Order: sequence, then C-alpha cells, then structure tokens
Amino acid sequence: MGSVIPLKKEIDNSYLDLKNLVGNRLENVNQQIKYRLASEINLISKMTSHHLKSGGKRIRPLLTLGSAKLCGYKEGSRDINLAACVELIHNATLLHDDVIDNSDLRRGNKTSNTIWGNQSSILVGDYLFSRCFEMMVEDGSLEILKLLSSTSSRIAQGEVLQLEYKGEIDILEETYFNIINSKTAALFAAASKVGACITNKNKKEKDALESYGRNLGLAFQIADDALDYYSTKTIFGKEIGKDFFEGKVTLPIIFLCQKSNSEEKKFLEKIFKKKSRSKSEFSETQNLIKKYNSIDSCFRRAEHFVNISYNALNIFNPSKEKAILQNLTSFSLERSF
Ligand code: IPE
Ligand code: IPE
Ligand code: MG
Ligand code: MG
Repeated sequence: MGSVIPLKKEIDNSYLDLKNLVGNRLENVNQQIKYRLASEINLISKMTSHHLKSGGKRIRPLLTLGSAKLCGYKEGSRDINLAACVELIHNATLLHDDVIDNSDLRRGNKTSNTIWGNQSSILVGDYLFSRCFEMMVEDGSLEILKLLSSTSSRIAQGEVLQLEYKGEIDILEETYFNIINSKTAALFAAASKVGACITNKNKKEKDALESYGRNLGLAFQIADDALDYYSTKTIFGKEIGKDFFEGKVTLPIIFLCQKSNSEEKKFLEKIFKKKSRSKSEFSETQNLIKKYNSIDSCFRRAEHFVNISYNALNIFNPSKEKAILQNLTSFSLERSF
C-alpha cells in the first residue's frame, strides 16, 4: 500500500490557532445557540441539549468568526449571531442526515434518532432550521438571508441527489463532486463569505472567501469519505463503513472501480446492488481499496482543492488571520476526526 496520510491523535495546530484567534467569541456562539434553542417543550429541551453537549468541531462557525476577523469586523455581534446560524443549519442537517443514513453514532455519542426515534429527530431538525431563520431575519441583511437560505436548499438538493445515486457504482466523478459541492461545500462557502458580507467588502473579497470555503469544504468531505474506510470508531466518533453499508458510492469506491479488473468490478457491482452488505464484504472491499491505493488517490485529489482554497486568500494583505485561515486548509486533510 502507498503512503497514506497517517492518523494523528492530537488536534491539528491550525485548528487550535483558529480557535485561539477568535477567543471567547466561539463560546458566545455556543451560548447564543443554547439561548435560541430554549423551549418549553420537554422533548425539544432534552434533544437539543443532548445534541449540543456532544459538541463537534465547530469548524463552520469558526470560519465565519475567522473570516469576519480577517475582514476587520470589530464592533457588534453580527459575526457571533451569524456563526450561530451557520452551526444551526449544520446541526439541523446532521439530525436529518443521521435519519437518512441510519446512523447510530455521532461525535462519539448515540445519535438522537437512536435514542428518540426518526420522527422526533426530523422535527427537532426542523426546529433548528426555523430558529436559524428567525435569527437571520433579526440580523436584517437581505444579502445574508439570501445566501444562507439558498445554501440550505442546496444542502437538501445535495442529499436528495445522493439518495438518487445510491448503489450506483458507475456514478460519474462529476456527479459525486456535484453532490459534495451541494451537501457540504456550499455551507463552508457561505460560512466564510459571511465575514466579507458583514464588513461590506467588495465582490472580489466576497468571491475569494467563498472560493476559500468551497474548496476547503470539498477537501473536507473527501477526507470524511476516505476516513469512512480507514479510520477507527473511537477517533472518528462515527461508525466506520457507514457509507459502504448504506450503499453510498463515494470517491474511494469511484477510484477503485476505475482501477479494478472486470472480476473485481463485477463483485463491487453485485454487492452495491444488494439491499444490504456484510462485514466480510466490507473487509474485502477495504482490501481492494488498499490494493489499488484508492485512499491515496482521494487525498491527492483533495490536495488539489486544498491548494485552490489556500491560494484564494492571496488577495488579502498579510496578517495573522490570513495565515491561520490558510494553514487551516491542510487541517481538512490531516484531521482524523
Ligand atoms: C460532518 O461534519 C458532516 C460532514 C460534512 C462530513 P463535521 O465533521 O464538521 O461534524 P461535527 O460538527 O464536527 O460533528
Ligand atoms: C454529510 O454527509 C453532509 C450533510 C450532513 C449534509 P455524510 O453523511 O458523509 O456525513 P456523516 O459522515 O454522516 O457525518
Ligand atoms: Mg451521514
Ligand atoms: Mg460521512
């Protein structure tokens, strides 16, 4: 097997640098989310506090706070409120996604759908979306309302497109990129662009931050799809092999199909067409992935997006913020969780 990027147990420095850069503003985001999700309905309280306690990396709100800082945002708390909106959209999609993907582990904890069932998870996901929209209206910027609402519909479209291609091992690379662009990269792009919007920057800066976020998001999802084949449950905080067991055809499989011989391809075709797949079929597929270095190919492809993301910020003058955001691009690949 080729040189797969080794798993790192420690948290990447660039991620911690960004957390330090925004200081207690991330804590303010968490407080804002907690405050906004408060409800008299007991089940909502229980479910949202379970979900919030589980944490998560908070990478998207960090992008909003970091980009706002890069653009010189100082006065006010719009960055905090909008970072909270971005994280609420993300968490709403996770609640829905775990139902769609039948996932029972997230952030190292049981998923809400496992504890409270699918119906409650869908409804509480909708509750998160609605709270987020209330906050966006309060912010008052039509530009941002347009940006984040169109992003939400992009995510939904990406998830539906993915469902449409379930089990199709001859899915085009282009379709895969279309899916991940919508379901993941769109929110990274919007989260980053918000910083330029609230500081009334020109189109050039807005486009640069959007491109930064989009390409970072593409690399991030490719890494997620690769980790699904080779990480471990304790580090990843999610079950390994979920995409395989759900019949989701992601980049490691697309690259594998491009290289495998006809017998191996027939095997893959057959197992992905079935309603369910066994653990031994997963091991066999992992072996094929190793044989053809598909994970390496994924990381090479992701590196391409990391470079575009890094270079997108070149138009900004040198600053600590710029350096930290640029260094963060490699976190999307080196992360192991
Ligand atoms: C999970 O996103 C969904 C993907 C786009 C892969 P994160 O990995 O950012 O999830 P949390 O919020 O840190 O748990
Ligand atoms: C994440 O896709 C995209 C959204 C939640 C919209 P995945 O299905 O790959 O995310 P995980 O692996 O469940 O976190
Ligand atoms: Mg999922
Ligand atoms: Mg995944």
